[in-house]
Amino acid sequence: MICRNFARASAPAKVILFGEHFVVYGGPAILGSIDKRIRVSARPIASTKIRINSDIGYFASYPSDRLIESRPHFTEGERILYPLYAATHKVLKDHLMGTAKSIGVEIQLSTDIPLGAGLGSSAASCVATVAAVGSLFLRPDKDWVYSMALRAEKIIHENSSGADCYVSSFGGLIYFVKNIMNKKIRPKKALSLIVVNTGIKHSTKTLVTLVKNYRHENMSLYNDFANRATRICEQAVLAINVGDQIKLGQLMNENHTLLNELGVSNEIINDLVGFCLDKGASGAKITGAGGGGSIVVLIPNEYETSIISEISKKYSHQCISTKIGSSGLLTY
Ligand code: PMV
Repeated sequence: MICRNFARASAPAKVILFGEHFVVYGGPAILGSIDKRIRVSARPIASTKIRINSDIGYFASYPSDRLIESRPHFTEGERILYPLYAATHKVLKDHLMGTAKSIGVEIQLSTDIPLGAGLGSSAASCVATVAAVGSLFLRPDKDWVYSMALRAEKIIHENSSGADCYVSSFGGLIYFVKNIMNKKIRPKKALSLIVVNTGIKHSTKTLVTLVKNYRHENMSLYNDFANRATRICEQAVLAINVGDQIKLGQLMNENHTLLNELGVSNEIINDLVGFCLDKGASGAKITGAGGGGSIVVLIPNEYETSIISEISKKYSHQCISTKIGSSGLLTY
């Protein structure tokens, strides 16, 4: 067993271009990494503690020699950082078996991914934490990191499709079907989008539960939506392959309508989507779970600056211009 005295990793945020929610029930999704990242460093400490500190103001300390349950009286920091603790504990347990165990880990997170904005911050933090802690003991490969990070993400929402952790681990633009296949899409033209953060924090778990209940109560309508979502995804792959931005925009709009019918949009998001389209965007839609969070907007080059400035003027929302397909997990 190697035990380095310091390791670092970073993992990217993501946008879902097509297929969110339906991907939880086996439909395809298209998603890509973006150039916003979380950076994690880990170092062993001579104490049976796992201490996690995040630059967005959360701190927590847990025992490293046993796994404690998540508890109702946890502080906000302890609750939010718990999945990272559980993942770290698992790595320690697997790699310190049979050795003196009075060892803990200190973890430092620093992020430029907005939280609860539909950009996969929780998946990226699970990926980067598992990789940094794992790098203290082994040379982790991405498949191992992905599976360990997904275990942690499932503590946050147990029905996770795994799409967010996958793209954060491997990077690029990915066609993803839960438990079945993932393949890289190589766009003919580099895909650039803007992400507009509504500033309304959402809970992925709550929205996934809302869709679960909807599906349970309206199975045939849900199946109809899911078939439409699959068709949109298949056409989107073709549009990306040939670089047809107009078609891609139309498909994003159709996907947004579908998410609205499914109940995960709201007036604030629809108003923002409509505004972007009025100002010349080719397509705009929710990205991620919805209910707030962010939208992605596809804009012809000539309108990009003017649309960003109009959005900022009218809504004062954070706008992020981004290229899809940045590097996945990096370890140092
Ligand atoms: O909003 P986010 O970044 O948590 O994305 C969730 C994506 C869903 O499809 C709604 C859930 C999932 O597990 O894929």
